[in-house]
Amino acid sequence: MTLTACVNGRFLPLEQATVHIEDRGFQFADGVYEVVACLNGHFLDMDAHLARLERSAAAIDLLLPCPREELAGIVEETWRRNPFADAMIYIQLTRGVAPRAHLPAGELVPTLVVTSRELPSPSPEKLEHGATAITLEDFRWKRCDIKSIALLASVMGKREAARRGADEAFWLDAEGHVLEGCSTNVFAIIAGHLVTHPLDHQVLGGITRAMLIRLAREAGLEVEERPWSLDEADLTECMLTSTTNAVLPVCRVDDTPVGEGAPGPVALVLRQRMLQAMDALRETGNRNAA
Ligand code: PDD
Repeated sequence: MTLTACVNGRFLPLEQATVHIEDRGFQFADGVYEVVACLNGHFLDMDAHLARLERSAAAIDLLLPCPREELAGIVEETWRRNPFADAMIYIQLTRGVAPRAHLPAGELVPTLVVTSRELPSPSPEKLEHGATAITLEDFRWKRCDIKSIALLASVMGKREAARRGADEAFWLDAEGHVLEGCSTNVFAIIAGHLVTHPLDHQVLGGITRAMLIRLAREAGLEVEERPWSLDEADLTECMLTSTTNAVLPVCRVDDTPVGEGAPGPVALVLRQRMLQAMDALRETGNRNAA
């Protein structure tokens, strides 16, 4: 399939879809982004993604270039022109183009780029054995709640994880609490409860994180949003969430098995429930359908 991208409302073949070299996204990472899944033409939590995009934009003093409904239309049209059965839509909004200066003169026209590609999914091997992670002390900035395109620290973390043969790097705070991964939120099962770091400036409010918490409560699990660490007694399982992974067990951290070192029963039930909701969305357009 020849891919089509959308640049400021214009649809172009991907190779011709370009942005100015003085775009502030390119020179300053002065922008925000979203990644949304589209399953058989139905978007998973589009409203929540666009609301988060608007919040991230507002946090850097940027307005969406058009009302949310219009943006949703652009995103849908981008998918229609690249209609993967399971698609991953990337939306990037930057402050726009200006001669390089930290403080640009005057108001700029923001740059909006939307692409649609096949949604990646975890390999069968990863699903069978679980993902692996390393831990790194958090060296990112203090506004990780903003979905900023400034992802250098995350790239460095992922590269270090790959160098050590792991899938993800978990960021730890100075006290050793697990905050989140480079591109994922992280959960543990501790004494049978689902535990994850509370929403603050150190973590991104993942849309899949919120979905997992909802599904866990529906399944009768206690959910605790509190600081936690990997050496807590009664920690039996670990898992991560993101738009591209749904929920995935993590079975080794820093080369040490988590619990039994294999995907645990709670993670497997939660994954099954999440996949069921996604299948319902695929088939009926409503993920709550039975
Ligand atoms: N990453 N935390 C971080 C730092 C992230 O970058 C992401 C998403 C998440 C999970 O958010 P969500 O459930 O809304 O996808 C948590 C996306 C997928 C990316 O950068 O590709």
